[in-house]
Amino acid sequence: MSSKVTIIGAGSVGATIAYTLSGQDIASELVLIDINKEKVEGEVMDIEQGTCFRDPISIIAGDYADAKDSDIVIITSGMPRKPGQTRIELTQTNVNILKEITPEIVKAAPNALYIIVSNPVDIMTYVFTKISGLPENQIIGSGTILDSARLRCGLSEHFQVAQRNIHAYVFGEHGDTSFIPWSAARIAGVNVDDYYEMMPLLGKEVEPLDKEEMLTYVQKSGGQIIANKGATFYAVTRGVVRLCGFLLSASESITTVSSMMHGEYGIEDVCLSTLALVGPKGIQGKVPMKLTEEEIGKLKASADALKAVIAQIDL
Ligand SMILES: NC(=O)c1ccc[n+]([C@@H]2O[C@H](COP(=O)([O-])OP(=O)(O)OC[C@H]3O[C@@H](n4cnc5c(N)ncnc54)[C@H](O)[C@@H]3O)[C@@H](O)[C@H]2O)c1
Repeated sequence: MSSKVTIIGAGSVGATIAYTLSGQDIASELVLIDINKEKVEGEVMDIEQGTCFRDPISIIAGDYADAKDSDIVIITSGMPRKPGQTRIELTQTNVNILKEITPEIVKAAPNALYIIVSNPVDIMTYVFTKISGLPENQIIGSGTILDSARLRCGLSEHFQVAQRNIHAYVFGEHGDTSFIPWSAARIAGVNVDDYYEMMPLLGKEVEPLDKEEMLTYVQKSGGQIIANKGATFYAVTRGVVRLCGFLLSASESITTVSSMMHGEYGIEDVCLSTLALVGPKGIQGKVPMKLTEEEIGKLKASADALKAVIAQIDL
């Protein structure tokens, strides 16, 4: 595939995305941009020197002009969350960085599809939507892709069944006000409560699912990993690389990404994650999945929490 992907920010997340893309056939050109020139040049050397056993791929440490004609731009620049720090506390610092880089990258790559990964990702997606001047379909926040992956991982372990058989999602903020619309969670087409009832017939005995505990596992995983090893980057990379594959493939896929709301579920002027159809034209629409009244209330509460943050930041 002859696609060009630019990654802004060559830290733990950006470099791991570049390394992972260098081992796949998604992109033929990678550009890494970072204010830390030594770091980005070192990352590029290290990644490039492992590419001799694949079809040729160009990987450079570049500047904004080198992002010209990119199909995808991935924004990972910013400061990571420190142990004990909430995503929201990072907001103004990372918004300021985004305000610096947006005019430069948009000038160089006005037609690219943009994946926003920097945290707090929903706020960053909102700010980028407001200041970039790009059509909204080109702007995709990685949102709860990671949270939904964590949920599938947790449910797979609980029910002792492969993650590929689990279709379950995390909606709302990538953060403390996210929630799981259990009404839509399925294991091979069976809702999770019914699946639990069936388990003795399958010769398996598991504890009843504690849904609150599962949400806590999803929400606290990031903090736990940061406390243990300083940063999270492998799982988010898998999600972002999969998203790149969706954006460059011939047909659309459905996933949980953050994008601007326009009255869906009674919510507007905020970015958060619901199910969206994504493909070569970016966000091609939101899937109007039926939620219960309680779930709609949780989505609105998440939107309100994000709006309260937006109200406090200097755009
Ligand atoms: N959305 C998600 O699911 C998710 C998951 C993990 C991490 N993150 C977020 O991704 C971001 C990056 O995390 P990380 O662990 O890679 O951090 P990191 O500190 O390792 O890397 C950030 C990089 O951004 C660079 N940078 C800072 N200002 C810049 C600028 N103006 N222009 C270009 N580059 C600049 C830094 O030099 C650094 O190399 C953080 O905001 C983190 O919270 C998001």
